[in-house]
This record gives sequence, structure tokens and C-alpha cells, in this order.
Amino acid sequence: MKTIIEPFRIKVVEPLKMTTRAERETALQKAGYNVFLVPAEDVLIDLLTDSGTGAMSSEQWAGIMRGDESYAGARSYYRFEARLQEITGFEHIIPTHQGRASERILFELVGGEGKVIPNNNHFDTTRANIEHSGAKAVDLVIDEGRDPRSRHPFKGNIDLDKLDGLVKEVGVEHIPCVMVTVTNNSGGGQPVSLENLRAVRAFCDRHGLPFFLDACRFAENAYFIQQREPGQADRPVTEIAREMFSLSDGATISAKKDGMVNIGGVLLLRNEELYIGARNLLILTEGFPTYGGLAGRDLEAMAQGFEEVLHEDYLQYRIRSTAYLGEKLLASGIQIVEPPGGHAIYIDAADFCPHIPRSQFPGQALVCALYRHAGIRGVEIGSVMFGAHARMELVRLAIPRRVYTQSQIDYVIEAIQEVHAERDRMRGLKIVEEPPVLRHFTARFAEI
Ligand SMILES: Cc1ncc(COP(=O)(O)O)c(C=O)c1O
Repeated sequence: MKTIIEPFRIKVVEPLKMTTRAERETALQKAGYNVFLVPAEDVLIDLLTDSGTGAMSSEQWAGIMRGDESYAGARSYYRFEARLQEITGFEHIIPTHQGRASERILFELVGGEGKVIPNNNHFDTTRANIEHSGAKAVDLVIDEGRDPRSRHPFKGNIDLDKLDGLVKEVGVEHIPCVMVTVTNNSGGGQPVSLENLRAVRAFCDRHGLPFFLDACRFAENAYFIQQREPGQADRPVTEIAREMFSLSDGATISAKKDGMVNIGGVLLLRNEELYIGARNLLILTEGFPTYGGLAGRDLEAMAQGFEEVLHEDYLQYRIRSTAYLGEKLLASGIQIVEPPGGHAIYIDAADFCPHIPRSQFPGQALVCALYRHAGIRGVEIGSVMFGAHARMELVRLAIPRRVYTQSQIDYVIEAIQEVHAERDRMRGLKIVEEPPVLRHFTARFAEI
């Protein structure tokens, strides 16, 4: 059969509040045209992020009840540790409260003034943590990864020639590690091939460099490898994921994505010295090493989530349902980053509303238009988020895991088609208030 159905049934429901266009207009104005500042209750379909917004399974909720809340040596930690060791092959498994806590610890240890850290595309919190340490974050994705129309199957790949150029330019002694984000969130949720990861490993070995993964969406990346990479079709996703981890020296993970939980993170390390440094920093701000800023019940939910995310029927549904949204938009003449990514669809806002110049934030204008028209919340990934570093003006519609049904996604498609038909009426924005870092979260705008 062609229809790929949700491989679960609904046991608990959460009613949605319907709002009028006038109510949404008021909410937008109150929020300074920044949908991060709109109360979630006033959002109908929330595609702001796939991070921490997924639905947990009955087994995860059962784990919540099993949680051992002992301060030290909790049973839940050992279950979590064993599961992560089995999936990733790493010895040192450090729980953190979320991905950015893992990043903060790692870059406090390896970052600092004068250092340069390459990645395919740094996620905003990764970049911010690197820069906070005094180091510089550099994006080296392949050129196809910057072209929304390129159908390259692994647009998340890092460009080895650019990496080589960086080493020659700044000197290997200034590069504490190479990082690769799988899948590449800021570059359109695009996967990285095993071939590319193996090449990065060989490059790092040649130069004596550690190699870290930002592995928030490791399972989705592993599934893309199975589906698209020559020679990988017959391998189980679990085996591919394990090889991805085996190629690296460490990984930061936000478990709010492929960990299938609402809160949680992991830092994986191989090097003993680095592990001891990380454990000390963990105790300073997160907590004792067997809970790391989380409750025992959270560790139980993570242990179960990391197992469920590797079920191939789940991954097939997940990747196919995201592609469904993307393909329908493309068929309506709406340019997205092609091919559809794993966790989200990225609309090319510069193409959607060419009459709005980059200086007037076309992505933010489209985010506001979608909310105003249909109560849909997306997020700008462009000049608002990355300032001068922005390469594209995108609007990301991130799909929470196991949350929305196909009819709700059909509603989203219809709404975007209607906004597209009237796009000439959309107006640009100017910033009227902004914080010094990560401005997209709290900046306020005015319509021009
Ligand atoms: C690729 C990537 N890295 C890091 C993070 C940060 O994770 P967290 O939000 O859990 O701090 C995210 C979150 O969206 C992400 O997508």
C-alpha cells in the first residue's frame, strides 16, 4: 500500500483553542510581531519547533512512574546509561538538562579566545556558546547546501576542501575540534552521508583533531543514509547510527529531538581527561553526574525514547509525513529547501515575497502572515536569527514528533497556499528592540 499511516493510536487528547483573525492580530501586535512572545494557547498549529514538543509513548509515561529519584546512583541513571552505551558505543554518558548545556560544558573545555570551530552549519545555541567562550564558529557546508533548489541527497555534508582551506588559513593549532551537525538543522534539516562522516574522520586523524557530532537528530540522519546512500539499504538503522557515533570522539545531543522527550540532553565523550573536566563542570551548574540537572523520571523517559526513535516504522512515517507537506507546497509553486528535510520544511521566504528586501526580514513577515491568517506558528531562520551570517531567508515549519494528524497538516498546506495567493499584500518589518545575543527570541518588530 502507498499510504503510510501513523504507527500509533491516540490515547490522550489535548483540545486546541480556536481564535478569530482579529484576536490573532491583537496577539501579534502585543507580541511586537515576534511569535516567540505569543502565548501558546493562542496558537492553533504550533510548528515553532520539534524540540521538546513531541508526544511521549505509553511506555515512556510508565517510565515516568518508575523513576528513581535518589540523588546519587539512581537506578534510572544506570538504565539510561546502559541504553545510551548500547546505541552509541560511547563509554562516558553525561546527562544534561538540554542540548545547550552539553554545548556550554564542551566549549568551556575546548573553546576560548583565538580558537576556531568549524561545522557544516552551527545551530544558533552552538554558535552562541562557542562565541561566548571567545572562539569563532565557522560554517563550511557544501555549496549545494546553500542552494534551496539543489536536490543533492546529502546537502548537510561538510565541504572537505573548505575544511582543508580553514586548517591552512588559521593553523591546526587554533582548531580544537571539527563538528558536524546531523541532520543539519540550520541548513534545512538536511542529512550528512556516512561517506562524508568517514572522510571527516580520516581528515581529523591526519591532522590530529578531535571530531564531534551535534547528534540531536541522529536517528533521522541514519534513516536518510539507509534510504539514500549507495550500499546502505540493507543495513538496520541501529547499525548505521552506531557507525555514525563510532566515527566521532564525542557528541552533544538535545534529547528533545530524537530522544523523544520534553526535556533532556546528553554529552558523550571518549577522552578520559575531557570527561573528568566535563563532569566537574556538570557538578558546578547541572547536578551530580547520575542526574545532571534532570529528575530520575526524565532519565527513564529518555532511555525509552532513544530506543523507540530507532524503530524503522516510526522513522518511515516520520520522514514520509514531513516530505508530504513539502511536496504539496512544491506542487503549489511554493519554493522550499529541496529535497524535504527530516524534521521540518523550510520555505524560501525570499522567493515567497520577493517585494520584501532582506533588510526588512521577509522570513519574519511570512511567519507573521501565517499566524495572522491561520494561527500557524513557524520560525524565521534568516537575517533575524543569524544577522549578517544568514545565507538564506527561510521560514521553518518544524513538525513535532507524533503530535499532529494528516488532516491538521492538510490545513497547514491550505493556509500557506492562501497566504501565497495574496502575498503581494505582505509587509516588511523593522526591529524596534533587540537583546545583545540570540535576538530572535525576544526582539520586537514594527510593520513597515
Ligand atoms: C542542531 C541543534 N543543536 C543544538 C540544539 C540545542 O538544543 P536545546 O534546545 O535542547 O538546548 C538544537 C535545538 O533546537 C538543535 O537543533
